[in-house]
This record gives sequence, structure tokens and C-alpha cells, in this order.
Amino acid sequence: MGNEEPAVMQKIVSLCKRRGFLFQSSEIYGGMNGCWDYGPLGVELKRNVKEAWWSEMVTHHDDISVLPGAASAYEMTGLDCSILMHPQVWKCSGHYDLFHDMMIDCKESKRRYRHDQVRGRWALLDDKRVFVTAICEPEEESEALMARAQKCFGLRAKERDRIGWDGEVVSLETVEDFDQVFGPDAKETGTLTEPREFNLMFKTNMGALFDEKSVAFLRPETAQGIFVNFKNVVDSSRVRIPFGIAQVGKSFRNEITPRNFTFRVREFEQMEVEFFCHPDSSQEWYRYWRDRRMQWYKDLGLSDSRLILREHSESELSHYSTGTADIEYAFPFLPEGEYGELEGIAHRGDFDLRSHMEGKLNPATDPLEVEVDERGKPVHRGSGKDLSYRDPVTNDKFLPHVIEPSAGADRATLAFLCEAYTEDMAPDEKGEMQGRVVLKFHPRLAPIKAAVLPLVKKDGMPEAAQEIYRDMKREFPVFYDNKGAVGRRYRRMDEAGTPFCLTVDGQTLEDGTVTLRDRDSMEQTRLPVDEAKQAIREAIRC
Ligand code: GAP
Repeated sequence: MGNEEPAVMQKIVSLCKRRGFLFQSSEIYGGMNGCWDYGPLGVELKRNVKEAWWSEMVTHHDDISVLPGAASAYEMTGLDCSILMHPQVWKCSGHYDLFHDMMIDCKESKRRYRHDQVRGRWALLDDKRVFVTAICEPEEESEALMARAQKCFGLRAKERDRIGWDGEVVSLETVEDFDQVFGPDAKETGTLTEPREFNLMFKTNMGALFDEKSVAFLRPETAQGIFVNFKNVVDSSRVRIPFGIAQVGKSFRNEITPRNFTFRVREFEQMEVEFFCHPDSSQEWYRYWRDRRMQWYKDLGLSDSRLILREHSESELSHYSTGTADIEYAFPFLPEGEYGELEGIAHRGDFDLRSHMEGKLNPATDPLEVEVDERGKPVHRGSGKDLSYRDPVTNDKFLPHVIEPSAGADRATLAFLCEAYTEDMAPDEKGEMQGRVVLKFHPRLAPIKAAVLPLVKKDGMPEAAQEIYRDMKREFPVFYDNKGAVGRRYRRMDEAGTPFCLTVDGQTLEDGTVTLRDRDSMEQTRLPVDEAKQAIREAIRC
């Protein structure tokens, strides 16, 4: 993350490193772009996010009553599929042909850029007209372009006002003649190649032979593992449509410009559900999941004012989709008024099951036409297996429609971190107000639920505190800390986002009570240990 990031984001990134939430991958070797490691606090936070999701979607899901907004009662179940799958999966899903970005290379700097992310402006000097480009944050665009134009024309700083500008800053996509383009890292014009397709799937080889036949891909989404197992789940469990299959797991995309901390990375975790329903009720289910997923983020603490539900316009929809909505969050690294995607909820119709059954449709031409080779054979053959569903009660046979709520575990974790980051005032040991940094996580997400602190390291207090600590640790993650003044220990726990601190003092030894300090209000209440435990239990249960 560069210096240009808004100040608050820089503070979050540095807190994450200092307190062990996130580290750059392979840092001692200079780092690995687009890959991050979760540290001791980060791994607990992300596990809690994934567990909260699994609990909401699968384990604690109520499959008997009809929930508000739902078309009927429904079941939810889970899967954990392999990352490497048969290459035909990616042909039929469309990823092999369509999952790409348009890229341009710089022949001089050897850098590669996404075509739509290079922006620039026409600069004029005497009889020269050059499209000057820069890769930078929007608020730095004009200064960066001026600096690049100065370099391009070989001017000194005081000669900058000789440069004229034609039109506004626009995407490189609007430019046809690349000879006139001054690349973002180039020393001369005309070094950029024409845009070409770059598939985002990571390619590898399976087995001893490294030839075309051994090529395999790291999955770019968890969803396809669910589709290809649809029949297995129906045949092996007692689920009846409507039902959903959930999966949480790693996905890989060779993103050209990974950026914004863990927002756009090359290795990430997805939390996806494919919800199979009758085509007649699919629109109702789409609305149901869209609203329910939005509520989940709010229930776990994301504020209304930073969240939006954005319905895709007709032109944005995939040809097979009759509705897609994105849940987006106002991340602090984005300019004011801009939002980043947390989750997409898509109505996928029967596209995936049909493709895996009959072969991939060619969306570029006619969505109803199967792509064929010169002999008329389908190029992307499906499995040939009947993936339709026969209702055991009505005997109705149909190809289910699918609603897909697809979330990113890393993006959700980052949003909860950004939302939790707060700077306020707290009294120090002398009772004087000092600035404090506190992560106000929802107690359910907090990596550590409570800290047990003996007031001083003598008079039997550490022993009593350790007993409470051992007892509580059997139920939830707690931390024991006896180092330094108690005020300083509170602030360490505030930075880790620990919602409660239990302090053991002289009175504890007499009557078994402790003080329970609330992280957010900083209020302290004296109460019996069992009641303190119960208060923590209730807060994390939500
Ligand atoms: N099966 C549908 C699917 O994969 P997607 O919109 O490409 O849809 C779903 O991805 C979610 O996965 C996104 O909303 C985002 O949260 C997460 N995601 C996608 N690409 C990501 C990346 N490069 N880095 C981090 N998270 C990513």
C-alpha cells in the first residue's frame, strides 16, 4: 500500500502489521505481490467471519419454518471440493474462453497493465500531440499527468506552462493510435502493445509429463465444485428442492493489478452458496437471498451509511442472468462516494447445470446455440449426464434454476476491520484523557473475547486470575495478561478488539466478584465471575 493511500487506511495497514492481523506474504524475501498472510489475530478474525457465515447459511439455518420473505421452507447443506478439477469443468463454465482481462504490455519497461485501468490526457507542445498516461489515485491524477508530460517533452519544471491540454482525462480505451501514447512507466512514446486477452486462471501441470494433456487450472471460483456435485448431493442426501449447497474455500485469480491491501488479491477465499429452486419461484428466491445477505453484514456491525445494495443494469447482466445485485462497502481507500464489491447475488438461471450436462453455450453468439467444431461436434462437451431433478412427491422433472450469493471472506474481513477501526479518548493511569485506538469488532467476530487481568502480581491475584482464565478458555478464546499497568493492558486489548476485560483484585479473593470492563463504553461493572461469563457468552452468541 503506497503513501498515497488515505491516512486512515495507512493507519489500519500499520496496525494490522504491528498487532499481527496481516503480513505481506514472503516478506523476508521482499514480499509476493497480491498475496497476504493472516497473523495470530488475523487468522482468528477471518475464522470467525467464515464461521459466522457458515452458521448463518448452513448449521443454524432453520429448515422447518418458512422464513420471512422466503417462498417456502428450504434446506442448506455443505461441500468441500478439491481446488484442482477436470479441465472440461472450466471449458463448460466459460472460464476457459471468457475469464480474461484486456491487457497491454510496455515493450520498454516490461510492465503489464489492464487496458481499462490506464488513464491519460492529450498533451500538446508546439506541433507535438501525445497521449500522456499515469497509473495513480484519482486525486493525484492531474499532478501525475503534468509530471509525466514534462518528462515526455523533456522540459524543466519552470517550463511546465508551455504544455497545453486537449480534453479531459480519459481511459486509454478511447485511443486508437498507440504510437502517440506515452506509457505510464516509459521513457518514450509508442512502447505499448495493442490490447490482448489475458486469461486470469493459474495454469499448472498434473503428473509427471508436462504437456498440453497434463494442463490443469487452480479454481478461480468455488462455485463449479458445487455444480458438478449437484447430482451426488441429491442422490446421497435427503435434500429436496428448494435447497442450497454452501462451500468456503480458496480461489485463485492471476489479477493483473492486485491492490488495496487484501481487497484485490491473487489467492483468496470465497464463501459461496448455489441455491437450487424451481424456475417458477426463482425470482422470489433471488429477492429473498439479496435482502438476507445484506442484513448479515449489518447484523455483524457494518454501518448502513457505508453499505449499498446495487442492482445491475440490463446492460451489465450476463446473458443468462435475470438479476444480479452487488453488496458494496465504502472502503476508506476509495474516493468519497465510491464503493467496493463485497458480495454478488446472481440469478444464474439453469446456465451452469445445462452447460455441464449438454456443453458450454456460446454466449458471444447465440445463447441458445452450442458451440461446434468444423465437423459439427460440440467444442465444449458437457458431461452428458442428466443433471435434471425429479421431485419425489410431485414427480415433476425439471432443470433447477440457481440463485448464487457469492461473498469474499477476505473482503468481508477487511470491511469488518475498516469499520471497527476507531480513534477516541480514554483516561490514562493518572485519569488524564489520552487518544486511544480501538477496534470495535462485533463480539462474535473479535479474535479474543475477553482478557483476564490480575490487578497486581501479588497477594494471590495472579493465581485467582489464572483459574478464571483456564475455566473460560474451555469455552472461548481468552487472553491472560499480567504485564504492566492495568490501564496500559486495557489499551493493548482495545487495539486487538477484545470486547471485555475481567480484572481480578483484592475483593475477588473475598467475594468472588470481578470488574467487567466494556471495550466501547469503557464502563466497569462489578459482578460475580459466573455473571461476567454469562454476559460474554450472550454477547458473542448474537
Ligand atoms: N461464482 C461467482 C463469482 O466468483 P465474483 O464476483 O467473481 O463471482 C465473488 O466473486 C466474490 O469473491 C467477490 O464479490 C469478492 O468478494 C471475492 N473476490 C473476487 N475476486 C477477488 C480478488 N481478486 N481478491 C479478493 N476477493 C475477490
